[in-house]
Amino acid sequence: MSTTIDRDEVVRQVLEKKKYRCLDRDLVTFIAGKEIKKRTSLKEAIKGTTNKLHQVGWAYFAQQPDYTAHLQELAMLPTDLHTEVNRQFCLRLMQEHASTRERLPIVGEFYATLLADIQPVTSILDLACGFNPLALSWMPVEPDIQYSACDIFNDMTTFLQSFFAHFHIKGEASTCNLLSTIPQKQVQVALLLKTLPCLEQADKESARRILTGIRARTLIVSFPVRSIGGKEKGMRQHYASQFESLLAELGWHYRKFLFASELAYRIERDP
Ligand SMILES: C[S@@+](CC[C@H](N)C(=O)[O-])C[C@H]1O[C@@H](n2cnc3c(N)ncnc32)[C@H](O)[C@@H]1O
Repeated sequence: MSTTIDRDEVVRQVLEKKKYRCLDRDLVTFIAGKEIKKRTSLKEAIKGTTNKLHQVGWAYFAQQPDYTAHLQELAMLPTDLHTEVNRQFCLRLMQEHASTRERLPIVGEFYATLLADIQPVTSILDLACGFNPLALSWMPVEPDIQYSACDIFNDMTTFLQSFFAHFHIKGEASTCNLLSTIPQKQVQVALLLKTLPCLEQADKESARRILTGIRARTLIVSFPVRSIGGKEKGMRQHYASQFESLLAELGWHYRKFLFASELAYRIERDP
């Protein structure tokens, strides 16, 4: 295998492509660094990098969200998040990301169950958030909740920042690459929803490092029970046995919750 492919050139050419322009540079560099070790030409390394970026990010979208239109609509909405018109807006947008779309039938039950006995909830860190911050109106949290969220797309996080600002939520949205850096904000609850399998596609050893790097008293980690295409394929048993052995190794106490479309774990730890 060639080791002479220039990683920075791969990164430059990938970020020049319209589809990948909004991705976190650190993630593109991380993936390109792995791909150049497996490929024999610049062209192959670029293809390998874009394929992997598609798999970890774009695969959840049927089409690119129209953030310009979403921002125009947001600007016209009343500023109380919990009004019916705003909840309808959030529901419609959550349909655009496969992960939140799949959670919609259980979204109220999901957060009511997972957050019920850790009230009051005052701060949340939503890691690899996708469109999940748009579910805030379904979460039993304090009105002055501090909500931090991160994902790999900077157009998504810019939109989420405007969403927080419009509804006067103390929120912060930023891009991140959890494969290299874990946000060090100290919070009450960290969410890592349906994301570990996705991160493991790019780095098999990432789960333990990420879990132990998060600074939260309560950690909520979940797994899909079906693939993006809707197939069951024994996923629930597979993720459960893999994750429970990791929790046993770490000596962490947890409660397990099975929802129709998602398997969740709530872990209590010292911050
Ligand atoms: C299965 S989706 C889950 C989204 C959200 N947590 C939810 O459950 O609705 C996985 C998310 O991880 C994000 N992601 C992929 N690789 C990442 C990385 N290295 N760092 C941060 N986020 C990442 C993707 O963009 C995507 O939004």
